[in-house]
Amino acid sequence: MFYLYYTIFLLLLYNVLLLYAKADEPIIPSFATTPPMGWNTWNKYGCAIDHHLIQQTADAMVSEGYLAAGYNYLNLDDCWQSNNRTDNGTIVIDPLAFPFGIKPVADYVHSKGLKFGIYSSAGRKTCAGRMASLEYEKNDAKSYSDWGVDYLKYDNCNYDEGVPAPLRFRHMRDALLQTGRDIFFSVCTWGVENTWEWAPEMGHSFRTHDDIYNDWQSIVDILQVHSQVVHLGGPGHWADPDMLEIGNGVLSIDESITHFSIWSAMKAPLILGNSLTNQDPLGKPALRIRHIKEDQDVWGGPLSNNSMVVVIVNYKPYPQNITVDISTELGYADGYARELWTQDEINLVNSSSIITQTLRPHACAMYKLTHGYLIHNLTTSITPSNNPSVTTTMTSNTNKQQGTEIPTIRYEAEGLNNLVQGLARRKGCALCSGGAYVMAIGNVNRPQTGTLIYRNITASLGPGEYTMRINYLDCFSWSTCGDFFTRRWHLRIRVNNGEPYWISLKSKRNPTITSDYSIGIVLDKQENNEIIFDDPNAYGPSIDYIELTPHTPLNQHQYVVQRYQQEGSSNVFELSFWESGDPLATTRLTRVLADFFWELLFIVICCALILRTLLLLYKHRHRLSYYKKL
Ligand code: GLA
Repeated sequence: MFYLYYTIFLLLLYNVLLLYAKADEPIIPSFATTPPMGWNTWNKYGCAIDHHLIQQTADAMVSEGYLAAGYNYLNLDDCWQSNNRTDNGTIVIDPLAFPFGIKPVADYVHSKGLKFGIYSSAGRKTCAGRMASLEYEKNDAKSYSDWGVDYLKYDNCNYDEGVPAPLRFRHMRDALLQTGRDIFFSVCTWGVENTWEWAPEMGHSFRTHDDIYNDWQSIVDILQVHSQVVHLGGPGHWADPDMLEIGNGVLSIDESITHFSIWSAMKAPLILGNSLTNQDPLGKPALRIRHIKEDQDVWGGPLSNNSMVVVIVNYKPYPQNITVDISTELGYADGYARELWTQDEINLVNSSSIITQTLRPHACAMYKLTHGYLIHNLTTSITPSNNPSVTTTMTSNTNKQQGTEIPTIRYEAEGLNNLVQGLARRKGCALCSGGAYVMAIGNVNRPQTGTLIYRNITASLGPGEYTMRINYLDCFSWSTCGDFFTRRWHLRIRVNNGEPYWISLKSKRNPTITSDYSIGIVLDKQENNEIIFDDPNAYGPSIDYIELTPHTPLNQHQYVVQRYQQEGSSNVFELSFWESGDPLATTRLTRVLADFFWELLFIVICCALILRTLLLLYKHRHRLSYYKKL
């Protein structure tokens, strides 16, 4: 009971803090009119940084033309700090990497005509374990201003007091504003706590996904989530799918060109010195207007001077022809289409508006459409709700049960209507339904449990009992596969205002497998039912989707809800032995029997063999003593 009150208290506190965090926000200076461009230490060097590296990079950015091409930020990422502060709260800089401090480094960068960026975290420690800024926001903002910092990447690692990210980030935003210096504020929250709902007013850019890795699949995964929220970015508040990995030795030339083309069309911050192009001043992100999983994409977006950008991508591992109708799909007529990488030009006035492009595996074509005119507005015709893969959807599945058609509704975990709190976050995933899932549910970082809240569940056949099939992923990227000893995930379920209910889900210890578990729930409202998944005490699984099917015949629905409301019985209930998908899950004893079957069998066989040997020895003890005498 204590835990229940404690949890309710934490939830109330969380919501009050959230309200407070959202209220009365000063407007950030809107100097970031185009997405920032520059270079950052992390993807290539991690913690292996020092002042020589920064000086050499500053020199190269000027001599090799990056600055002239618009790449004007040189940003230090994690690991410039030590693990300490002085007695008056000033951060101590890593004395080996930066023996003369940060100011001379910033001065050198400025002397080259570049801007200087730095990194910290809204926690006790940075992600790499160095000293971070929580509760020292004012001290640190002052140091940054004294050193001449122009850009702060502010991360979300290592906080454990349950304070929501909007509040922690607001403290730093306000501290930066108070310095009076124009400092670009990059919110690095990886999409947690529905970042896009609060961060556009908080910072000049906001991360929407977990870290990029140096491989093609990571790019595909990021696009699954980023494409849903890219339209929320714009001048002064850029949606950030993370930095570029081009030139780090893994992506092929075609993959690198595609990575760069989509990032620039999406108006993403282009952080890492590479291709020489500038960003369009209109600052409208391109939208994903066609997506066929593991097959192809078409992105389109308006540019200044009545122009438009189009990116066509081949996701297949072999070449294919992709056709785009410029007038019907992109709403652009006449003029020219120039391919930006090959400079080939197509005259759209005389020829048809159809472009067909043969693309190598993972390659793209990037066209700029000019000298024509817009027939219809892209931003109004393409919204994320048109994409059934991520927003909450109703599948047309029907099950035959008791002679009637029973509708099944599937709700993707990553649907944008859901609230994802704590460290839980949406993540792209090739094997998942809708191409993404929600990871880090449960007690990943006590007591800020990662929480997935479905906010708009519909009772398809009216209030009543429903079977909820939970489709979960066995492990997530931190190579965690459930409780080590029990081999189980734990999940707390709350439906509307009902009592919490714990279930235990089998882990197959294999990140490439999705599993199912079904449980019964009572939905007592027609619309906007709420289902919350979390666990304050243990790791939960990653959730791909849930599916709801009416459990009781229609004519009994009203009766079930009345009984539930009158008797105050739980609104989560176990299904029959076989319906759950894990028939032995209900009691601890049956779980142990099922989960450790082979180990138990092995122990039984060993015991039997030992017993048999002892019996044999006992039986033949006379013969043994006879041999001894001989
Ligand atoms: C987080 C960020 C990365 C990088 C590292 C540094 O993971 O998302 O971009 O800054 O921290 O530790």
